[in-house]
Amino acid sequence: MGGDTKMKAAVFTSSPNKDGLTAACGKAAMQGIKEAGGTALHIDLNSLNIGRCSVCGNGWGTCFKEHSCQVIDDFQDTHSKIKDQDAYVIVSPVYWGEMSETAKAFFDRLRRCEAFKEMMKGKSIMHKKPVIGVAAAGGSGNGTLSCLESMERFYKQMGADVFDLIGVTRKSRAYKMETIRAACKEMILNGSKEFFSPEKYEQDR
Ligand SMILES: Cc1cc2nc3c(=O)[nH]c(=O)nc-3n(C[C@H](O)[C@H](O)[C@H](O)COP(=O)(O)O)c2cc1C
Repeated sequence: MGGDTKMKAAVFTSSPNKDGLTAACGKAAMQGIKEAGGTALHIDLNSLNIGRCSVCGNGWGTCFKEHSCQVIDDFQDTHSKIKDQDAYVIVSPVYWGEMSETAKAFFDRLRRCEAFKEMMKGKSIMHKKPVIGVAAAGGSGNGTLSCLESMERFYKQMGADVFDLIGVTRKSRAYKMETIRAACKEMILNGSKEFFSPEKYEQDR
């Protein structure tokens, strides 16, 4: 990561509306990544066939020890496409105060395959990588925080380094597009730097 190697970031969107708020947020994220010299891989989860976790066996299937999912659909291809990305952005519409069902289906299965790698002396694909969550609420705006909270929880369980969590509503749309673009640009430029460490704390005192 870093040096003259281009940073690669995956941007997930999970809305059926091609011209909606989620799509606009995804475009702003990709613009920021590209402005910073990075490459952006767009994953439109709604265009893929990704079913829910089957809760195999006694609660765990191959996800626990083999880090792969035995429900065969577009999950496998998507999982392997995103493995070597340097940063991640989830953009989801707020449904019922949570991520959309398409986002939940994918990230539930991804978490099962990745989160326990560390226990087995491996590393999650998001381990210490910078990540951003964007919750796009077009209705009341209620539930934006709980949606962001679920993104934060997912990212933490994946061992990622949360760079920013951004809520957008119809009212804040205009200026939040700029925020998303700027946040993604900054994440690509400086997201891997150590902002806090015991050594830095001592130096700054
Ligand atoms: C099933 C469903 C549940 C929703 N729940 C909420 C909600 O809890 N809070 C909210 O502010 N908007 C809610 N909305 C509105 C969406 O968040 C809003 O339409 C969002 O902007 C969709 O993004 P899009 O333009 O990409 O479709 C809901 C919409 C749907 C379809």
